[in-house]
Amino acid sequence: MFPLWPTAASTTSHRVDALYIFLISVTGLVTLLICALILIFIIKYRHSKHPVADQITGSVPLELTWTVVPFGVFVIFFIWGASIYVAEATPPRDSLEIYVVAKQWMWKIQHENGQRELNALHVPMDRDVRLTMISQDVIHSFWVPEFRIKADVLPGRYTTIWFRANKPGTYHLFCAEYCGTLHSGMIGKIVVLDPKNYEAWLSGGGEMGTFAATGQKLFQELGCTDCHRFDTQGRGPNLVGVYGKPVLLTDSSTVIADDAYIRESILNPGAQIVAGFKPIMPSFQGIATEDELLALIAYVKSLAVSQQSEPVSNRPPVPESAGAPQVQ
Ligand code: CUA
Repeated sequence: MFPLWPTAASTTSHRVDALYIFLISVTGLVTLLICALILIFIIKYRHSKHPVADQITGSVPLELTWTVVPFGVFVIFFIWGASIYVAEATPPRDSLEIYVVAKQWMWKIQHENGQRELNALHVPMDRDVRLTMISQDVIHSFWVPEFRIKADVLPGRYTTIWFRANKPGTYHLFCAEYCGTLHSGMIGKIVVLDPKNYEAWLSGGGEMGTFAATGQKLFQELGCTDCHRFDTQGRGPNLVGVYGKPVLLTDSSTVIADDAYIRESILNPGAQIVAGFKPIMPSFQGIATEDELLALIAYVKSLAVSQQSEPVSNRPPVPESAGAPQVQ
């Protein structure tokens, strides 16, 4: 049998379906109404019964009706659609963080614990999952019909999308943006596991170290540690606790140190200089790959939370008091 709807496997699925059914019903009813009126008028006003046409010169109530009623219907479409869009664009706090790098023609998935996957994504059921996505070449689009989510994956810019899968199973992942010869082959699978199986799958990853630890290693290899020291003596800002916080720049404006800000600071360091520092940092454009940039961001992120939760291995000592940070 040809299935009318893809399986509904996420918490958003039914909201999207309901809107879709509403759209089809309203437009279907309007179509039927128009067809019925055409038939009725053909018969009622046919030439033999109505040889002379009535000249109607306008009717304010009628014109108001056919303006206000469709406007109201379209406003309902808009508010309903916008509420779903905003909900899909706003990941809940404490979502599981997963990084996606798209390229011609594959999906590279990176989990926080260090697991990597190609054209496959394993996620736990009943858990909010947030994807941070970027492309290393052209525009792609991450589409999971069973979750009713789709988001463009762009070069040079992070996009995020989130979902909460609520049915175990294996689902399709498609690229929904024409991206070259093998676009149609840029597919993968999403595997939703119940929490027990997910833990088992996660632990099967071997000893790769966390993604943040990979970032920490890179941070040393690229020489970032020379300037970004964990005290106040460095030539660059101390990055402990910076992630997610406002940063004061030399032009007295502030920016939030989010993924996009950190990425730009690595690739184009001269764009936004932190107040009190000189523009001496070299660009890492062409040196750090998209995967490595994400690892560095994961590391900076771990520095922000390391005071409360599980730290990166071999992390530098975090100053206890804000007043007098110790030298490492
Ligand atoms: Cu990637 Cu189409």
